[in-house]
Amino acid sequence: MNIPRDDEQFLNSSLSIAEIIDSDDNPIKTLKHAEAFHYMMLEYGAALKIVETKLNALDSEFNLRHARNPIESISTRLKTPDSIVEKMHRRGQPISIERIQKTLTDIAGARVICSFLDDIYSLADMIANQEDITVYEKKDYISHPKENGYRSLHLIVSIPVYLSQGRKDIPVEIQFRTIAMEFWATLEHKIKYKKKIADPESVSAELKSCADLINEIDHRMQSLRRRTID
Ligand code: GTP
Ligand code: MG
Repeated sequence: MNIPRDDEQFLNSSLSIAEIIDSDDNPIKTLKHAEAFHYMMLEYGAALKIVETKLNALDSEFNLRHARNPIESISTRLKTPDSIVEKMHRRGQPISIERIQKTLTDIAGARVICSFLDDIYSLADMIANQEDITVYEKKDYISHPKENGYRSLHLIVSIPVYLSQGRKDIPVEIQFRTIAMEFWATLEHKIKYKKKIADPESVSAELKSCADLINEIDHRMQSLRRRTID
């Protein structure tokens, strides 16, 4: 798409038309073509890159200090227009740029796969304590796993992004998991959401049991690491 970069007038007018998006009967198509949507996604993309850079810096510093990396991998994603509209409908919200920004805090998402349980909390604390970061919400599904066995630490943070119009605080959802938690969550998602399940109760019970086994292994790995000297 060809966005005129220095045209302030254009930017302002494109943002104000955003509110009419809901009147269209194909909101996904309209959203994809709305200039304001592209500006919005640009802001979320910029916020996501800042968060990723912060995490990489912490990982590199930790490596220099302790000769190992606490982060195995980081993946980032921006929510697609389809899934933005789907989630807004699920929340019973009208589709406008303003409402989307107020309702959804996971348009920008980063998933941080950590080596050990301790690394999750160290990294999350280091990110949360940075001066330009505000923590909106913390969900600790490790100390309080979901009923199905899901474990991860979720932070919703806000980070300032500076563009031509000045500062804007943008929310980013960061999910911290161990490799083991990622293994479970990936397979659970595949098993649960992609297939028709004949006996859902026994599948759920088995998944929960796998999650508990995995949790035990995470703790054993953590103990093993504590027995090594940095
Ligand atoms: P949604 O964002 O609509 O899911 O609702 P929420 O904000 O109440 O969810 P929550 O913060 O608990 O989870 C947000 C994200 O965590 C999801 O989009 C998934 O990526 C992940 N997640 C949460 N629960 C599960 C689960 O049971 N299984 C798997 N595989 N992932 C989960
Ligand atoms: Mg969410």
